[in-house]
Order: sequence, then C-alpha cells, then structure tokens
Amino acid sequence: MARTVFVNGEFLPETEARVSIFDRGFLFADGVYEVTAVVNGKLVDYGPHMERLGRSLAELRMDWPCTRDELDAMHLEIVRRNGLKEGIIYMQVTRGAADRTFNFPKEPVKPTLIAFTQEMKLAQNPNAVTGIKVITTPDLRWARRDIKTVMLLAPVLGKQEAYEKGAQEGWMVEHGYVTEGTSSNAYIVKDGKVITRGLSNEILAGCTRRALFRLAKEHGVEIVERKFTPEEAYAADEAFLTSASQFVMPIVEIDGKRIGGGQPGPVVRKLRELFLAEAGG
Ligand code: PDD
Repeated sequence: MARTVFVNGEFLPETEARVSIFDRGFLFADGVYEVTAVVNGKLVDYGPHMERLGRSLAELRMDWPCTRDELDAMHLEIVRRNGLKEGIIYMQVTRGAADRTFNFPKEPVKPTLIAFTQEMKLAQNPNAVTGIKVITTPDLRWARRDIKTVMLLAPVLGKQEAYEKGAQEGWMVEHGYVTEGTSSNAYIVKDGKVITRGLSNEILAGCTRRALFRLAKEHGVEIVERKFTPEEAYAADEAFLTSASQFVMPIVEIDGKRIGGGQPGPVVRKLRELFLAEAGG
C-alpha cells in the first residue's frame, strides 16, 4: 500500500509527491534532516530531535520551514495517517528551490519540507539478541559533523563497505581514533565503565546518546567521555552503538575480532532494556 507522505504543507500518496529538480537539497545537499523513532505509535525522544533540528538550521543560516507547533502536528499526523506502530519518521528541510548558484539565493525562497514514514523492527530487532558486526573505515567527512546535514556520501560508502565485508556498521576512524558509526554513536565498555567520545564538531550529538547518558546516570552506570582507538576496542569487554533506528545495539565483532566472547554483554543488555522501558517497547 502506498504511504502517505508530507511535502510542503500537504499530505499526499507517495506516488504523487514531487520536489523541484532545482531544489538545493538535490543540487548541493544544502539541507538538514532528523530521524525520529516510533514505538507503539509514540514518538521517541522527539523534543531533543527538534532541538537539534533548530541547531542544525541555525548553523546553516536556514529558516524554519514552519512553526514548531506545525511541525509537531505534522509528526503526529503522519504517524496517524500511515497507522505506523513501529518504525521511523524521516523529515528533511532544504534551503529551497532556486537557480543554481553556490551562494544563497538572492531572493528569499521557501525552504522545502518533506517527511515520510518507514516501518522497522526497533524494540524486537533480532540483531539486538545476537549483536552485530562492525568494521573500521577512514572518516572521510567534512569538519562540521555536529550538523545533521543530508550530505551523506561518506557514510553511504562506509556502510556499503561494511555490508560487503559481512558487517552491519562501519566505525569511522580519524587520526587513529574512532569518531562514530556511519549512522550511529560508538561506545566500548571496560571494567564496567562505558567509554565514548566527547561531543565536538567531530561527531553528531546523538539524541539516543543523550537519553543513554541520562539513563546511565539514573541507574549508576559510569560513562567516561574520551576518545578510543580500534585496538582498545578490540580488547574491550563490550561494545555497542546508539541511534534512533537501532536504539542501543550490542556489537560482538570489530574487524573480525570477537568482543567479549562474541555475546552481548551485561552492561549493554541493561542499557538497552532501560532504553526500551522508557521508549515503550
Ligand atoms: N543517524 N552519528 C551519526 C553520524 C548519525 O547519522 C546518527 C543518526 C547518530 C545517532 O543520532 P541519534 O541517536 O540522534 O539518531 C550519530 C540517523 C538514525 C540516520 O541517519 O538514519
């Protein structure tokens, strides 16, 4: 059945949705996006996603496409119209359609806002039971990874390399240290402590990461914010990633090396459980 999608203020069947070929998102990747999880028909971490959207827009000097209230209503309505129980809402804002010039259009143009839903198994994702495999790959991205732009070619190539090597995610490496996953934040566990890179322009401030920090604090799990190398990760007791579409996902192999005996460990299992309890899974 065709989904109902959202384009510039209108709900339409996906087959009727149209965006201009002059859209700057299409021509320059001049746009930002958010992915929000839905569990039991409810949005997960929605407030932080919209906060980050506001920050991404401001960093690129782009206007909000509509009011925050309208955006909130759109998110709820797209879930309702598609009868979405579990999956994600993808939403994207671009600087709009204009004649192709690198600089911003001289005449003000309306930003383009689109959104669609995608059904996915999130709470009952079978990967969470077995754990997943990751490989390391060079981080080829630009210097402002704190902005959630649609410029995703480096992550596309990194994820493809991972799939071709039989893994599900790529951990990107820069100056010898893991930055983050191609579409997730990266963590290891050593002696009961969670280790993850601190926030900076070098990684995206994950909304799932933020929730994880809060839950860990509430439940006495220590998190240390510092960089780690692939070699340190190979020797870790546990490893995992977080994202809106994977939640807290155990990793059991990195570059072909088994982590923690090849089974999801106790710390990641507990953190995933806490996250699911809150998300309503
Ligand atoms: N990606 N780092 C990168 C590079 C990401 O693309 C993502 C999310 C994250 C995790 O952020 P959050 O917890 O807010 O989802 C970290 C989304 C899911 C995507 O592009 O599909």
